[in-house]
Amino acid sequence: MAGGKRLVPRQLKILSGARHHTMLWNEKREDSSDIGGPIKLASTHIITVALQKGGCTKTTSACTLAAAAALEGYSVCVVDMDRQCNATNTFIADADDLQEKGKLPSVADAFRKKAPADEIAVPIPQRFGGRLSVVPSERALDAVPYSLEAEIKIAQARPGTAHLDTHEMQQEQLSRLKKSLAALKGKVDLVFIDTPPDLGFLTTSALIAADWVLVPLTPSKYDLSGLQTFMANLAKVRRNFNPNLQLLGILLSRVKKRVLLDRQLRERLAETFKPKHLFAEDITDSAVHRQALATNTTIFEYASRSEPAVQQYLNVFHELVNRLEAPGLAEVANG
Ligand SMILES: Nc1ncnc2c1ncn2[C@@H]1O[C@H](COP(=O)(O)OP(=O)(O)OP(=O)(O)O)[C@@H](O)[C@H]1O
Ligand SMILES: [Mg+2]
Repeated sequence: MAGGKRLVPRQLKILSGARHHTMLWNEKREDSSDIGGPIKLASTHIITVALQKGGCTKTTSACTLAAAAALEGYSVCVVDMDRQCNATNTFIADADDLQEKGKLPSVADAFRKKAPADEIAVPIPQRFGGRLSVVPSERALDAVPYSLEAEIKIAQARPGTAHLDTHEMQQEQLSRLKKSLAALKGKVDLVFIDTPPDLGFLTTSALIAADWVLVPLTPSKYDLSGLQTFMANLAKVRRNFNPNLQLLGILLSRVKKRVLLDRQLRERLAETFKPKHLFAEDITDSAVHRQALATNTTIFEYASRSEPAVQQYLNVFHELVNRLEAPGLAEVANG
């Protein structure tokens, strides 16, 4: 936990999060002090959910897919890299309050203190069978890149510092999240990283740390042009830092089936991407997502299992697991 301290059980109870529980999916875990739980996959997969366009459902997709994973018996960790703290608040309803009192660790510690992720991950024992944990964000997260830059400037000012020394420092700073998340390898099945709506230091760190990238896309021409920019950035990350980073898939989200442009989106994407680049299931536009968000829950806790939104995300999750486990598919998806 923050500063190397583990949260005591009483604090963990406070962190239990949402008030809207369903009995079905909230069985309590015996041991609430550990992250994760028994693992199902042969290795840990780190999935960054990213696109620089604001509001394209990055957070909803990351949190809902992580919840689906936990409900399906996988051990999962959500890493919140956005200072808006939406993912943090989804799982830890009183996060702001706890952070103000210094009782909550933060992903910033992975950069500032080089903290391993298993020490800053907060278990959520009373939801999702205790199989989900969160590395919280904080409102001041955007200050991190500036303070790291300041470290470099100070080093530059020291006599005898070569330009390449500072270049190495920059590379090391960009790899701190990757190093921190290495502590989760073998401890959880899946890590979902939620990112901010930009291509800055924090998003780049998340792409460097990932095995896979999932891109949620809402049907608008701005999102389509943004996707081109994103793919170009992805190529740079691969070239310079992470050659193994693979495109897990583009998830069409907030689709309105009655709108012609929305129905045509898949065809338009097919001009550039292979079918395997796209998740077969669309997430349709539904008020239930906003309602769940407003109550700091996921749709699985807010709506019944017969709700189309619930079924859609479960279908996407099953597709996701198949993609992770089928190297052939992954190769095609990589283009
Ligand atoms: N399928 C959906 N149908 C309707 N509304 C949705 C759907 N999915 C998400 N939303 C809503 O859309 C809004 C934006 O979603 P979300 O916060 O997940 O996007 P984001 O990409 O994380 O945004 P940001 O770039 O600001 O971080 C939220 O109000 C959310 O509740
Ligand atoms: Mg978000």
